[in-house]
Amino acid sequence: MNPCSRIPLAPTMVSLIVAVALPACSTPAAPFDHQQVFALDGAHAPPLACEACHPAGRFQGTPSTCDGCHHAPYLATTSPSHAASLFSTDCGPCHTTTAWRPARPDFHEVAFPITTGKHAGIPCVHCHAAQAAGNFTQYSCVTCHTLGATAPLHTTVAAFAFDDQSCLTCHPHGNHL
Ligand code: HEC
Ligand code: HEC
Ligand code: HEC
Ligand code: HEC
Ligand code: HEC
Ligand code: HEC
Repeated sequence: MNPCSRIPLAPTMVSLIVAVALPACSTPAAPFDHQQVFALDGAHAPPLACEACHPAGRFQGTPSTCDGCHHAPYLATTSPSHAASLFSTDCGPCHTTTAWRPARPDFHEVAFPITTGKHAGIPCVHCHAAQAAGNFTQYSCVTCHTLGATAPLHTTVAAFAFDDQSCLTCHPHGNHL
């Protein structure tokens, strides 16, 4: 937007303003730096056209949240189905702007480490049996940690209970306490 007028400028003119000082403007504005309002990195960097996000040369009112521009692909996901999995529409913690696949490798580490420790390299479906149905909210511990193997490790633990939710409550990061 030309700081001296309310008339939206064509993208080429915006670049022009960046390049040359504004002669007739009483309060000279600093050159417009897009990175300050919204980083154009990953798939958002050129050669992506300005028009992809600013159709018809409209700059004001551009959505600035991922979901604001990518809600349709969110709804269209099937593997995993984000809606069925009750994934947040805050895409940033799980995705970069480079590509939807792969998701951020570290997104899971916060919830439950699977790239370090004893669970490194275990396929998703071994813990999320409902993955085929697009559901990652369900998980299992006791499919691998059988009662026979696990109970003897807890002879000193009075509150031991043999169910997935209890395992995760006491071992939120899947490691030794
Ligand atoms: C990937 C999407 C995307 C692309 C590509 C993009 N922009 Fe933007 N642009 C945004 C977003 C998001 C904002 C900030 C909206 C906000 O926070 O108010 C913005 C803000 C702006 C603004 C300030 C609008 C205002 O509020 O006055 C201008 C000017 C602008 N962009 C120009 C450009 C130009 C020129 C290009 C091409 C070189 C470009 N943009 C490419 C997403 C994009
Ligand atoms: C102002 C609109 C706008 C916003 C806000 C925006 N994007 Fe985009 N994004 C686009 C457009 C336009 C493209 C290129 C066309 C396409 O692939 O949809 C794109 C492409 C992408 C791609 C590549 C998609 C592919 O198929 O390869 C990813 C990944 C992406 N964006 C992630 C994000 C994330 C994460 C955020 C939030 C941090 C975000 N975007 C915010 C408009 C936006
Ligand atoms: C809790 C983490 C999480 C959140 C939040 C999340 N995603 Fe994803 N997304 C994933 C995972 C995991 C995959 C699968 C990645 C892979 O296969 O490498 C994925 C895959 C995708 C794919 C490709 C899969 C397909 O079926 O086409 C798209 C598109 C996508 N996400 C869009 C989004 C958008 C848009 C948002 C936000 C509105 C979002 N995601 C929020 C975790 C998340
Ligand atoms: C060793 C078991 C294990 C493995 C392997 C595993 N997960 Fe998880 N996953 C969990 C646990 C535990 C949680 C946290 C559940 C909770 O806190 O409610 C979780 C949570 C998630 C969530 C968030 C679900 C939600 O509630 O929003 C997603 C998405 C997810 N996992 C995807 C994956 C993907 C994709 C893979 C493979 C790359 C994978 N998981 C591998 C155990 C595992
Ligand atoms: C796909 C099989 C599998 C699943 C599912 C699984 N684990 Fe494990 N887990 C292992 C293996 C293999 C080890 C390493 C050998 C061992 O200690 O039994 C391990 C080790 C552990 C340890 C000991 C770690 C250490 O540092 O000594 C804990 C605690 C643990 N798992 C908790 C969990 C919890 C909680 C869940 C469910 C959220 C879970 N596991 C799901 C396979 C699994
Ligand atoms: C009430 C809390 C509690 C519950 C519930 C619980 N654990 Fe533990 N777990 C512990 C404690 C404390 C230890 C350490 C005991 C010791 O060193 O004598 C332990 C030890 C272990 C160990 C041996 C490795 C280590 O960290 O010392 C594994 C593996 C393990 N638990 C897995 C599980 C699984 C799988 C479940 C669910 C079936 C589970 N635990 C349920 C508290 C719990």
